[in-house]
Amino acid sequence: MTGLLGKAPLTSDVALFIEIAVIVTLFVARFGLARKRRIRAHGVTAMIATALHTVTVLLVMIPSLLRSQNLLFNNFSSPAIILTWIHAPLGLLALIIGLYLVAEWRFRPPGATCYKRARLMRPLWLLWVLSVVLGLLIYLAIAIYS
Ligand code: HEM
Repeated sequence: MTGLLGKAPLTSDVALFIEIAVIVTLFVARFGLARKRRIRAHGVTAMIATALHTVTVLLVMIPSLLRSQNLLFNNFSSPAIILTWIHAPLGLLALIIGLYLVAEWRFRPPGATCYKRARLMRPLWLLWVLSVVLGLLIYLAIAIYS
């Protein structure tokens, strides 16, 4: 079954919508909550974004990457493949750092470690937004060029 633009499978559309929800959640976590020092709510929101991202990576992105192995190593002139080579490591790094922060926190009252980690959160946030934007571009590149 194909998705909205008729080129990608329906699972890619679902992943796209989930990743847009992840970005909206991360915007709320940063500008709505961290800035207002609502740290617990910020942590919970970041945890939800991390959980959604993990599910999408495991159920859609990794299977799709495995299915496209041949193209990935043989088609370096394709915009979608070039973007995938940038998007996949960035998305994986965002996932690992996000999981680390959430696992380290474990719903405890925010303390010194949490505030120390805030320095890592700003680059993580940028990395995450960048990787989702690249994912969106891959989707569009497939729709336009395939
Ligand atoms: C998992 C993904 C997470 C992301 C992407 C994220 C993102 C951010 C960002 C962008 C900031 C603002 C930093 C700045 O402007 O200097 C921030 C601040 C902060 N975050 Fe997170 N965060 C995450 C998880 C967490 C968790 C699990 C906690 C634990 C409670 C936490 C606690 C804090 C604290 C204490 C601050 C500092 C707020 C302040 O300066 O008053 N964050 N976070």
